[in-house]
Amino acid sequence: MMKMSIFFFYSLLFLASFAHVLRADIAEYDDVWLKRREEAMKAALDAYHPNPEEVTTNLNHHVNLALEGSNSTRRNLGKYVGRCSATNPIDRCWRCQRNWARNRKRLADCALGFGRKTIGGKDGSFYVVTDSSDTDMVNPKPGTLRHAVIQEEPLWIIFARDMVIRLNQELIMTSDKTIDGRGSRVYIIGGAGLTLQFIKNVIIHGLHIHHIVQGNGGLIRDSVSHFGQRTQSDGDAISIFGSSHIWIDHNSLSHCTDGLIDVIQGSTAITISNNHMTDHDDVMLFGSSDAFEGDKVMQITVAFNHFGQGLTQRMPRCRWGFFHIVNNDYTHWKMYAIGGSQHPTIVSQGNRFIAPDDIRLKEVTKREAGMDVWKDWNWSSEGDLLMNGAFFVKSGTPSGSSQFPRHYMIKAKPGSFVRRLTRFAGALSCKRGHPC
Ligand SMILES: *[C@@H]1O[C@H](CO)[C@@H](O)[C@H](O)[C@H]1NC(C)=O
Ligand SMILES: *[C@@H]1O[C@H](CO)[C@@H](O)[C@H](O)[C@H]1NC(C)=O
Repeated sequence: MMKMSIFFFYSLLFLASFAHVLRADIAEYDDVWLKRREEAMKAALDAYHPNPEEVTTNLNHHVNLALEGSNSTRRNLGKYVGRCSATNPIDRCWRCQRNWARNRKRLADCALGFGRKTIGGKDGSFYVVTDSSDTDMVNPKPGTLRHAVIQEEPLWIIFARDMVIRLNQELIMTSDKTIDGRGSRVYIIGGAGLTLQFIKNVIIHGLHIHHIVQGNGGLIRDSVSHFGQRTQSDGDAISIFGSSHIWIDHNSLSHCTDGLIDVIQGSTAITISNNHMTDHDDVMLFGSSDAFEGDKVMQITVAFNHFGQGLTQRMPRCRWGFFHIVNNDYTHWKMYAIGGSQHPTIVSQGNRFIAPDDIRLKEVTKREAGMDVWKDWNWSSEGDLLMNGAFFVKSGTPSGSSQFPRHYMIKAKPGSFVRRLTRFAGALSCKRGHPC
């Protein structure tokens, strides 16, 4: 009863706060965008999970199953030459199957965490991208990625061959799509990035996205039946705006003008897994405004990612919502790893944090508030492996999940397993007829 009324209260807050939407790159909210926004708000509330701890313990349970019977904590560096060994439960669901290319949609059953219900284009047909160009923003050429992502129906989008795509403007996607780069090396570089705005149910898998810059804006088609004027885009690799049920898996991301992945404006039910991120300043922003209470619905899982060389900060930087950060490998940061403001709940479990040598940069966490304020924020750390002097400053009630029954309390794998769990992070080079 209590839960329901709190949820209802949040719902009202959420709807009310949508009245002032931040920058949206939309020059004018016409009827089409207003309708999309309204539908996206409803979808986000449906996707919101009133007991997020059930989702976090469920993921932990899968990690334990995947590693059962093995005690190894070895760290093999260098190129992997052994037979396919999928070490984490998401990969284990599909990666070692020889016939993955004939059974691509298997991937749709593999998400875990808050984005676990994402099936992308599973119910649709395949769309094969054959043309790497991106010249006409209003009437995209059939065969191009832009033509694929604006179609109304669910689609599973794959690539005919290796490709380098320079997006002339932000790529505005529609709901129920999978972009599946497996089997080809697909680079999205040098132009604008991906925009997921007021949509739901999208999988982005197996892309290399780097050196993304701002798009100038202008007339851009955003569905088969509509195009409109856009303002300048930010220069994020992937920008998720007011969207739900999104799964970002096995991508290699680096060197963008703005963020690598930004999740803002009441987006929720999201899993970001198995990505390899390098060489970037503001890595991931979850919630962009201290004034936007609509981000209270935000629930995001960050799992099995490798935060690698040349990263500075925001892995992620959080506001308002609930964030499960589990079994990631943090091997470099130049300022801090996990930060936030506006009392986000952060459950950090089984990550490996290797601090830089600089004595001033040992703290994993950073809070944009005075201690009298942040002492009540629920930031927990369980089973994290803290190396080279790294320390995680906890706050709030010791474990946000302590009110849940014992059998939900399955621990994440300790941080010592992380090297194994993340060793295949980033876009995989999969060959047809062989396990990935
Ligand atoms: C794992 O560790 C347990 C207890 O330390 C040991 O008895 C067992 O033989 C180990 N299993 C493997 C596969 O190494
Ligand atoms: C922290 O967790 C406790 C216990 O679950 C809860 O009562 C409190 O509201 C939480 N604090 C914040 C700032 O979310």
